[in-house]
Amino acid sequence: MTQSASKPAPQTFHVKSFGCQMNVYDGERMTELLSARGMTPAAEGADADLVVLNTCHIREKAAEKVYSDIGRLRREDGSRPMIAVAGCVAQAEGPEITRRTKSVDIVVGPQAYHRLPGLIDDVMAGRDAVDTDMPADSKFDVLPGRARRSGTSAFLTVQEGCDKFCTYCVVPYTRGAEVSRPWRAILDEARALVDGGAREITLLGQNVNAWTGEDDKGRLQGLDGLIRALDALPDLARIRYTTSHPNDMTQGLIDAHAEVGKLMPYLHLPVQAGSDRILKAMNRSHTRESYLRVIERVRSARPDIALSGDFIVGFPGETESEFEETLSILRESAYAAAFSFKYSPRPGTPAADMADQIAAEVMDERLQRLQAEIINHQIAFNQASVGKRTTILLERKGRQPGQLVGKSPWLQSVHVEAGDARIGELIEVDLVSAGPNSLGGVIVSRQAA
Ligand code: 5AD
Ligand code: SF4
Repeated sequence: MTQSASKPAPQTFHVKSFGCQMNVYDGERMTELLSARGMTPAAEGADADLVVLNTCHIREKAAEKVYSDIGRLRREDGSRPMIAVAGCVAQAEGPEITRRTKSVDIVVGPQAYHRLPGLIDDVMAGRDAVDTDMPADSKFDVLPGRARRSGTSAFLTVQEGCDKFCTYCVVPYTRGAEVSRPWRAILDEARALVDGGAREITLLGQNVNAWTGEDDKGRLQGLDGLIRALDALPDLARIRYTTSHPNDMTQGLIDAHAEVGKLMPYLHLPVQAGSDRILKAMNRSHTRESYLRVIERVRSARPDIALSGDFIVGFPGETESEFEETLSILRESAYAAAFSFKYSPRPGTPAADMADQIAAEVMDERLQRLQAEIINHQIAFNQASVGKRTTILLERKGRQPGQLVGKSPWLQSVHVEAGDARIGELIEVDLVSAGPNSLGGVIVSRQAA
């Protein structure tokens, strides 16, 4: 990409993140980085001098979205903002993006976004601005400190990348090898988030339960050690983590669910499929049985834990009876929530070249059947909560005036008539009604139980 003319310095910016929670976190860090450069955030992309599209490459539909979004940024007078494509599409497609559309100025991968200010300078000087390096120096060492004000519930990346190489998945290519951030950097960032107002922290990683590092005394710790250290932060009320791989559920982490009061009773543990033949073809490196045994151990440590999972339907070669094994593992696992996707062949992954790709109509039909089951489970789980007294963390306004929405320990959204209660408070509620995606609650006390 060679720019013919230099451009004026952008004063305002807008970051739009798609896809997973780690992209939301990266988007926040980019916002802090650009603010530290003296730029001002704009509420809408249309008003900004620079728009950063922080993209997702996990499925084709998500990846294609970026191109329609780029088109939409053209203004009525024919002008457009400076456009940066960041995130996993940037990593996977690199310079191809600027070949496909002339409207992109910057391409920056998920491990290189700390270099965004320099890339803006490159555009202004008329130089190429494509950076999809996976540099040895960590972006975390360069990014400015966390903003002074955090939301009630904050994300904190502790681990990034994946060495598992499931045959359908682009993550090991777009996010790179598994890297754990150092203990001290994580605890300092957690403290800054709590000082900024966060009551809940969700530790993020593509394989978050593979996190490992040395504590301040040089002792080797796993994610459970990190959770126990966070438990000691007085103003932090809740700890969560996502996403976990079944093979990395250590006994220490399972025990933490029984012993650490701030660790919420929720576990996102994707299984993807219920048939051993498909799991093997996916290179999941666990079986149906070994997965079920892990959740049995988790449930015996924390009987009220809410489990959630991810499922892929229509993996190459999946037969009707293999799909039925997915339905049956869903029933056996009794998930509180689950996310299901049609298999999407991703360029460069082994499964994309496998024989027996499944017809679109078959995938549609299987997805519908799976989702119908999932909704039944969600409704059953939510209905079983009605009548319970619990604590919710108030996070946002509801649609009705006077209403606030909080999260239960099991990650359910709970709507309440707020009265004097405020966002950021933990309040005691009675759960009184349930739908597939949320619950109704009545405040018992503004003091958390
Ligand atoms: N096709 C469909 N779903 C996928 N996922 C990952 N890769 C693909 C793909 N190629 C799903 C998995 C994963 C979730 C984040 O996205 O279920 O757990
Ligand atoms: Fe992708 Fe598998 Fe790694 Fe999860 S464990 S990020 S599905 S390769």
